[in-house]
Amino acid sequence: MYNQVVEEDIRSIGEDLKPIANKLSGKTLLITGGAGFLGNYFLLTIEHLNKNVLTEPCKVISVDNFITGMKYQIGESGNFKAIKHDIVKPLKIDEKIDYIIHAAGIGSPKFYRIYKIETIDVGVLGTRNVLEMAKEKKVKSFMFFSSSEVYGDPDPRFVPTPETYYGNVSCTGPRSNYDESKRLGETLCVAYNEMHNIPVKMVRPFNVYGPGMREDDYRVIPNFVANAFKGNPLPIYGEGHQTRTFCYITDAMIGFFKMLLSEHNKESFNVGTQEGETSMEELAGMIAEIFGNKVQVRKAPGLNDAYGKSEPKRRCPDITKIRTLLDYHPKVDLRTGLKRFIKWAAEEYSIKSEIVTEVKNSF
Ligand SMILES: NC(=O)c1ccc[n+]([C@@H]2O[C@H](COP(=O)([O-])OP(=O)(O)OC[C@H]3O[C@@H](n4cnc5c(N)ncnc54)[C@H](O)[C@@H]3O)[C@@H](O)[C@H]2O)c1
Repeated sequence: MYNQVVEEDIRSIGEDLKPIANKLSGKTLLITGGAGFLGNYFLLTIEHLNKNVLTEPCKVISVDNFITGMKYQIGESGNFKAIKHDIVKPLKIDEKIDYIIHAAGIGSPKFYRIYKIETIDVGVLGTRNVLEMAKEKKVKSFMFFSSSEVYGDPDPRFVPTPETYYGNVSCTGPRSNYDESKRLGETLCVAYNEMHNIPVKMVRPFNVYGPGMREDDYRVIPNFVANAFKGNPLPIYGEGHQTRTFCYITDAMIGFFKMLLSEHNKESFNVGTQEGETSMEELAGMIAEIFGNKVQVRKAPGLNDAYGKSEPKRRCPDITKIRTLLDYHPKVDLRTGLKRFIKWAAEEYSIKSEIVTEVKNSF
């Protein structure tokens, strides 16, 4: 029914979650941003758990205003309700709610430089609204999607970056509307914990990628891959020496669920992979190689002011905390994850070109 790569991913996540998933049995989960990349993986995973693992189904309510979200991968049913709503405005829900995942946000620099104020609003006012709901519903767990961007451009002495690093962030620079709203979002979570005892967790994902990212998302992996399919050169902004670590979606989802279902409240956790810090030049080279070296790599001006000089020079998490407290061990290496993403994209982006046919046939 779904794309084969997605189906395999969901099965693999479901298998790994079996030991802890039953906490969701018979519960209701509210997710904001459910129509986005990560949101859809949450919905698909819960649908899979409902069919295969849980004794009683987990009901899910998703709230999304589609500012960047495209569509839901699952249909509405007795266990899934979709509400079109801007979470910046208060929301009333009659049902009981046991768990909340606040994933609504505008995470791609392409979009957060277009929607500058909306990005701040969803990180701050949106977070506050959802925290109010957590208070009213007395939830068992509340997870806020913060970001590795709370660290800004880290001092090289703090790379790999542990959760204890305070960050090196401009409050007025081209990335500030995103970074600072995530920082204040975390501050709000901590304040609601201290004032109202809400069991909050703040997750800081490091460059999660995988099926479901928009072709025009402009985050680096979908950007390179979309260009490669069109036969365009892969555009490197700046010198190409900036590094990232990339975490394939299946690994990230395990980390997210382990956090949500844990008792580690008032804690921030890095989720990502510590292995394989890769420069943009190296990443472009790797993708070009997967495409049979039929595409070129070229330096190009950034799409907007958040690229090039404003980009953090290095981004690599220290994952000791989540590894030791939550037994989190990412296992998909970059080349494997890229091939899975490219295989999915070849189906989904519906680009008709020789290169697509060749890539499809090569997996
Ligand atoms: N993917 C990553 O690597 C990554 C890294 C760090 C942080 N994050 C954070 O994780 C969350 C999910 O990321 P994603 O990659 O799935 O992004 P995404 O853009 O694919 O999904 C975000 C969703 O939130 C929705 N949304 C935005 N503002 C809203 C509002 N005011 N009300 C209701 N819905 C709204 C969008 O329409 C979209 O469907 C975001 O908060 C993002 O900032 C993601």
